[in-house]
Amino acid sequence: MPRIVAIVNQKGGVAKTTTTASLGAAFAELGERVLLVDLDPQACLTFSLGVDPEDVPQSIHQVLLGKAKAFDTMIDTDDFVDLVPATIELTAAEAQLMTRPGREYVLREALKPVVDDYDWVLLDCSPTLGIITLNALTAATDVIVPMHGETLSHRALGQLLETIEEVKQYTNPELSVLGVLPVMFDGHYEHERAILDDITRTYGLRVWAPVPRSIRFAEAPARGRSILATDPQSPGAMVYRELARSLITTSK
Ligand SMILES: Nc1ncnc2c1ncn2[C@@H]1O[C@H](COP(=O)(O)OP(=O)(O)O)[C@@H](O)[C@H]1O
Ligand SMILES: [Mg+2]
Repeated sequence: MPRIVAIVNQKGGVAKTTTTASLGAAFAELGERVLLVDLDPQACLTFSLGVDPEDVPQSIHQVLLGKAKAFDTMIDTDDFVDLVPATIELTAAEAQLMTRPGREYVLREALKPVVDDYDWVLLDCSPTLGIITLNALTAATDVIVPMHGETLSHRALGQLLETIEEVKQYTNPELSVLGVLPVMFDGHYEHERAILDDITRTYGLRVWAPVPRSIRFAEAPARGRSILATDPQSPGAMVYRELARSLITTSK
């Protein structure tokens, strides 16, 4: 059974896209078959994998509106993962989906013909809890929440977990939260540690080993590759590799 993991946080700039690209590349390195789906109209995932959204003839937008098959939009990337790209057009899909019956299930249905070809499908969500993110949470088997160790993140996490509970109630009872992935972690701030301890206590969520803050992450997208390729021995690359290994072990 493929694991479909939504990388979700309604805050922007918390490394959702970086986590999708890096974890995807880490799975591929370990021989897993990986599909990444860009669900953000800003198309940062698409761009950071070396694909210019302007050159993409068909994207997730057409897939969600039933005008293209997911398979026909797929692009092979240099990181050995397949990509369903996004473009700015996706902004319009949000409104167009709203008027459709069964609107939360569109992505799940669209991915059904392709997911069995993969071990891992990672869904890179946009920074909203709108209908496209609800589609991701409905299509997913699992959720990973990347987050900053700061007070406001804590509040956003509470809201996100409420949404996840609603999704479980209405559209996807089996959805499971794999845990919180602390990102851009400075380590020496006691405050960050305190927030993470509090998350474990308050929500009983697993908190994975933190991804350290490093400028290397910002450099990778310009080269169209993930940090696994641009700086394979960096501490950040190691953390994503270790996360991939743990997830593979726990999914067996
Ligand atoms: N561990 C990290 N250390 C430093 N910068 C990071 C790290 N992870 C991601 N970044 C940078 O932070 C910015 C936001 O990351 P991104 O993955 O685009 O977040 P999101 O998808 O949640 O909006 C990007 O410039 C990215 O390169
Ligand atoms: Mg993003």
